[in-house]
Amino acid sequence: MNDSVHNVKDELLRELNERMASQCQCSLRKEATQAVPGSGSASAEIVFIGEAPGKNEDLKGVPFVGAAGIFLEEMLLSVGLRREDIYITNIVKYRPPENRDPFPPEISDCAEWLREQITLIDPLLIVTLGRHALNHYLPDQKISEVHGKAFRKTYASIGTRVLVPLYHPAAALYNGSMRNTLKMDFMRIPAILNTARLEKENDVHIA
Ligand code: URA
Repeated sequence: MNDSVHNVKDELLRELNERMASQCQCSLRKEATQAVPGSGSASAEIVFIGEAPGKNEDLKGVPFVGAAGIFLEEMLLSVGLRREDIYITNIVKYRPPENRDPFPPEISDCAEWLREQITLIDPLLIVTLGRHALNHYLPDQKISEVHGKAFRKTYASIGTRVLVPLYHPAAALYNGSMRNTLKMDFMRIPAILNTARLEKENDVHIA
């Protein structure tokens, strides 16, 4: 993809986020400082999806800027990626009070926003972080059973996608064994991405 196509996609994504920030009916808006739409490249091959903005993200308007974000950046670097190479967002675009889990109506109120982001970016991989993002796409799966595996699924809303569920970096940060598991699962991303690239080039499904 050449630079001008990249710039057009970035501009379209900026406009999309601006439009959705003015339209989104999520009740979390009332207490949040601002929307946290997402950050990174609109031409990314990988979209990472977390749960919801926390305090730092709410103040800055950027996802994953706290301790979990630093850990995520470390893991990205370990597989040769920088934040600018990917897109990071959350299933819920506003901070839930006291960082509680998002409620189902809040997730569904923000779902159209996420759907439009995925459709525009059209990534080869969606990496879900934690159980809320996992269950948004694979409702019957348990994170403890499926972390690090690749799933191919077809959705009416976003077409056929390869999904890789991972533990949430915030949950893994202070839990030694989960932290090691997450780091090891992360190392599988380049191979899964390469397979997805080959499949796209040849229009075949290897996995
Ligand atoms: N945790 C998330 O799920 N998202 C963020 O943006 C920050 C922390």
